[in-house]
Amino acid sequence: MSTILDISINVKEVSESRLKEVDLDNLAFGSTFSDHMFEMNYKNGAWGDAFIKPYENMTISPACSALHYGQAIFEGMKAYRTFDDKIMLFRPEKNAKRFNISANRMSMPDVPEELFLQALHAIVGLDKKWVPAKDGYSLYLRPYMFANDPYIGVRTSNNYKFIVFTCPVGKYYSKRIKVKVADKYVRAFSGGTGFAKAAGNYAATLYPALLVGKEGFDQVLWTDGYEHKYVQEIGTMNFFCIIDGVAYTPPTDGQILEGVTRASVITLLKDEGYTVKEQAITIQEIEKAFDAGKLDDAFGTGTAASVSPIAEINYNGKALTINENKSISEKIKTRLDNIKYGREEDRFNWMVEVMH
Ligand code: COI
Repeated sequence: MSTILDISINVKEVSESRLKEVDLDNLAFGSTFSDHMFEMNYKNGAWGDAFIKPYENMTISPACSALHYGQAIFEGMKAYRTFDDKIMLFRPEKNAKRFNISANRMSMPDVPEELFLQALHAIVGLDKKWVPAKDGYSLYLRPYMFANDPYIGVRTSNNYKFIVFTCPVGKYYSKRIKVKVADKYVRAFSGGTGFAKAAGNYAATLYPALLVGKEGFDQVLWTDGYEHKYVQEIGTMNFFCIIDGVAYTPPTDGQILEGVTRASVITLLKDEGYTVKEQAITIQEIEKAFDAGKLDDAFGTGTAASVSPIAEINYNGKALTINENKSISEKIKTRLDNIKYGREEDRFNWMVEVMH
């Protein structure tokens, strides 16, 4: 038994770890789960009933409101094993804050930031051995919350579950990706939920992603819902392009996710001497830059996907291809990785050691 803030956590450890069945040097993304999970329940207006237990299936009502109306949010973050064997979280306080921004938009209760962070330390601390040592690998953390009223009327729920489980992961994308510019479907409108890490945002992108997948693309590059003109994000990642030596990324205007990796890459680009413009940019401007030979690079950023170079942006059937040799994204990714794995001084104070 331990306590987080004034809530006590019951800890039930596995009798035998499953780690010996797992090859931590050979992992895909998202299907291997570590030994334990953290769970906490909200009822009568307060969080309580917190415990860590072996990772296992859950029992919920068939009428569980989240399954019907999608009142569910999540975060994605990672723990890294540094070269000198410390376990570090990357900017966890930013995820704690964003979780509550999402919660607020989805009419869900806050998880106090301190509680959120302590839950992460407790679960990662217990499953430390599951943090891979291989470069590019990490322990992915999935904190999430869902409405848990056994009730199918449409209203804000009274009961919620907050859970954190973790998975050792390798790369999300194994090669440079090809994206197709959205010209029909829409991910987010002004006033909608585009900035929140709401489960439904991801569900709505699956069908368009399936369609572009049949044409050989990895993802959709989303555009605004009025004119399909301003680029937004890639769904799994924020979007950057470098035109004539200047970095552009769409502004956090409520329609894109305020990515932690996005913010970190902006800092690193500036540190490398680039001008970074967080401003609305149209697909026509990107096409014009390509035609003039000035589209130096394009890439996505995200926790799961890190910094992922784009090989092609397909706009109305025209392939805007990116020259791999000019890759600025590779340089930024290397610096970010060096900080995460402790090979470069953490000048920006991004890394937080797991203490348990
Ligand atoms: C993350 O990058 O952590 C995300 O939540 C994106 C998800 C598509 C894996």
